[in-house]
Amino acid sequence: ASERTFIMVKPDGVQRGLVGEVLRRFEQRGYKLVALKMIHPPRALLESHYEEHKGKKFYDPLLAYIGSGPVVAMVWEGLNVITVGRKMLGATDPAKSDPGTLRGDYGIVTGRNIVHGSDSESAAKREINLWFRPDEVSNWVHTA
Ligand code: CMP
Repeated sequence: ASERTFIMVKPDGVQRGLVGEVLRRFEQRGYKLVALKMIHPPRALLESHYEEHKGKKFYDPLLAYIGSGPVVAMVWEGLNVITVGRKMLGATDPAKSDPGTLRGDYGIVTGRNIVHGSDSESAAKREINLWFRPDEVSNWVHTA
């Protein structure tokens, strides 16, 4: 079914100039961009976004990393975009990601894995609502 997912280029991806590459891959795959913004995420937003990881060993370094600079947050729409989007990103650990995926082509370590993507329908809903106001998400349609 057509669905929406939250994709975010993390600070390392922004700093390495990979924003265009992420956008290009999703556009070329055929997905529709319905929201996009650059934001230096405040701590409270990251605490909500990563609430399921609170208490884990990597939680503090993770929040420091994602809060270290601006990220590019986006919402993509299309057929099975949650599952296919995760495939396009690759495994959480870039060393285990297949070549051809974003992390498999551009990453080496989990602590700098370039991009985030929602891992389920409920996560996608939650994350889109967390990062975007309803009026920041467009319902544009092809006209020509
Ligand atoms: P992401 O899929 O965006 O969501 C959780 C993030 O935690 C993950 O990407 C990694 O950036 C980070 N992380 C760091 N260490 C680990 C780990 N050991 N297991 C899972 N995620 C980790």
